[in-house]
Amino acid sequence: MNIQIGHDTAIVESKKQLITGTYLRNAWYCAAWSETLGDNGVLGVTFLKEPVVLYRQGNGEVAALEDRCAHRFAPLSMGAVIGGNRIQCPYHGLEYDKTGACVLQPHGNKNIPSRAKVKSYPAVEKHKAIWVWMGDKTADPATVPDFSVMDNVPALHTTKLDKIMVKANYELVVDNLLDLSHTSYLHAGILGNADTVESEITVLQDGTDITVERHATNAEPPGMNKLMWPQSPPRVDKITSIRWMAPSTLRLVTGICPIGEKPETGTGYHAVHILTPETDRTTHYFFTAVRYNVKTTDEALNRDIQEKIGKMRRFAFEEQDVPVIEAQQRIIDESQTAVDPLTLAIDVGPVRYKHILKKLIAAEQAQ
Ligand code: FES
Ligand SMILES: [Fe+2]
Repeated sequence: MNIQIGHDTAIVESKKQLITGTYLRNAWYCAAWSETLGDNGVLGVTFLKEPVVLYRQGNGEVAALEDRCAHRFAPLSMGAVIGGNRIQCPYHGLEYDKTGACVLQPHGNKNIPSRAKVKSYPAVEKHKAIWVWMGDKTADPATVPDFSVMDNVPALHTTKLDKIMVKANYELVVDNLLDLSHTSYLHAGILGNADTVESEITVLQDGTDITVERHATNAEPPGMNKLMWPQSPPRVDKITSIRWMAPSTLRLVTGICPIGEKPETGTGYHAVHILTPETDRTTHYFFTAVRYNVKTTDEALNRDIQEKIGKMRRFAFEEQDVPVIEAQQRIIDESQTAVDPLTLAIDVGPVRYKHILKKLIAAEQAQ
């Protein structure tokens, strides 16, 4: 296995990779796919251990508030949108606007106590998702992680906007995604095979982003690739590149092409992997995929491919990755001693991102 490393190599050493239990707060976190909220929709989502209610106002904009009424702590997410811009508590009818201020108290003299307010969070919709800013610094919508691969693409070539819950810390899921050597084992036949074990790995750093590339040459196309390109050559080059953007979003591109040719001559998909910590031990995992350079022209076939890619990817994550990740979490939690994993050549990506994330969190906490 040949490994090329961009920038310094000093951090590629064995380190204790303990789960931090803390979060980077000044960051955009995906709360939901936009379509989940709908018109006048209300949705309660917990992330970074904070219950948040999202609601869509009459003008289409999403508001995000603490999901806990100031009166007796009923969840506002059990309430409804009133008058196009307020959310009404289901218990005794207090109404809050998008700033979290109580604007109607229907009882007694109808006075609104000064403490009648809840926390509000900046929220934006971008790349078909709702993003919420959890920090104290000014939220800049331009810093939402770049998933523009999902914008303005034919619906036929995009899989379902999907989501699963994982009973593990989000860092174990990032570790899984940044080390794609596991596809040859855990996803053998679907996403990888024996031919893709031998891959050239390149790790590059761009600002605080990390990209891990794996290129296998003269390999049999894995099942997912054969599905997308039934007429592919019997042996191909397989490219995979995954970019981690702090704290927990990943954008992947993977595909096959004729041996020795440029990747653009082949076909594959851009994959979106968005992780939002719900708690220290539970993670929202949002995912979808968008095909590139589609070579199949028959619409019925493309519809079939679209559905199968969506199902195969969900199967791979839910039935293959998640059981191992959740078992890892249980073993770490039950361990009587500090966990200090071996570091192999394939771990260069996970080691690098963890180093950056820890630095970002430490810098934020120092402030
Ligand atoms: S708990 Fe919300 S109005 Fe009473
Ligand atoms: Fe996987």
